[in-house]
Amino acid sequence: MSVEEEVRRLKEERNAVLLAHNYQLPEVQDIADYVGDSLYLSRQAMETDRPVIVFAGVRFMAETAKILNPTKTVLLPDLTAGCSLADAITAEQLRTWKSEHPGAVVVSYVNTSAEVKAESDYCCTSSNAVRVVNSIPADREILFLPDMFLGDYVRTQTGRTSRTMHLWPADCHVHGRIRPEMIAHLRSEHPGAPLIAHPECGCASESLPHVDQVLSTDGMVRFAKETKAPEVLVATEVGILHRMRQLNPTTRFTPVDAGAICPFMKKTHLADVRDALKLNRYEIDVRPDVAERARRALERMVAS
Ligand code: 13P
Ligand code: SF4
Repeated sequence: MSVEEEVRRLKEERNAVLLAHNYQLPEVQDIADYVGDSLYLSRQAMETDRPVIVFAGVRFMAETAKILNPTKTVLLPDLTAGCSLADAITAEQLRTWKSEHPGAVVVSYVNTSAEVKAESDYCCTSSNAVRVVNSIPADREILFLPDMFLGDYVRTQTGRTSRTMHLWPADCHVHGRIRPEMIAHLRSEHPGAPLIAHPECGCASESLPHVDQVLSTDGMVRFAKETKAPEVLVATEVGILHRMRQLNPTTRFTPVDAGAICPFMKKTHLADVRDALKLNRYEIDVRPDVAERARRALERMVAS
């Protein structure tokens, strides 16, 4: 029996749902029940009626699924699938930052640990960060973390300033290397081809003159599906190209940076998914008191 057949059989036997992020390896995306961005997958995790969720993604995504659906078994096939951005701020650092800005509203990107979420008022993803910040009264001070490029982009879209919206100084090591000069250069080499970019790109707001749309990964996939352009330039992690090419075989999808590869998103192979289901590993648990406090911020994210 092939590994693929084993995964299908085990999924059936365990009544499990397999969620995969848009950056996962093609073999994993192709067998998943749902493929999408952080917000879409969080919603799927919340709504599923299956008792087991296998999360082909990174740890903060599996933790989010567990917090939103505490009675389910949540499995992360590779425990080393972390996120350098999520590691860029600890709960202790956030508590110190909050003490320097008493009364400020804390908006955390979903790419954070459960402990950091527990210290936050709101969570957001790349697809609803602007909406979430717009829902906060304009006179409230905001601490936005941990991605400074997403934060800077949100500032430009909401009219906030560096006085009213403070940014944690960190970035994603994969997107941070996609610089405005690279974007401008590719744009000039491919005149006429639309360019879409993820807001984690460094620095997304400086690149705005060269970018047609700043989108979450699902927003990019939707753009790819609908476009009639012969070529589209894509500024994000290259794993997304698989789905774009599947959904629209007549457009050429060219990465702005072919080296933008997230090592954490490539940890999970089909055999790891099989072993996760077979051996019930690795089960993700979040301390109930932490989960309780983090849930409020996450529910606001899912509702937004
Ligand atoms: P999306 O929510 O847009 O899929 O982004 C998740 C992520 O980790 C991007 O690096
Ligand atoms: Fe984290 Fe960046 Fe990888 Fe996304 S691409 S999971 S932000 S390290």
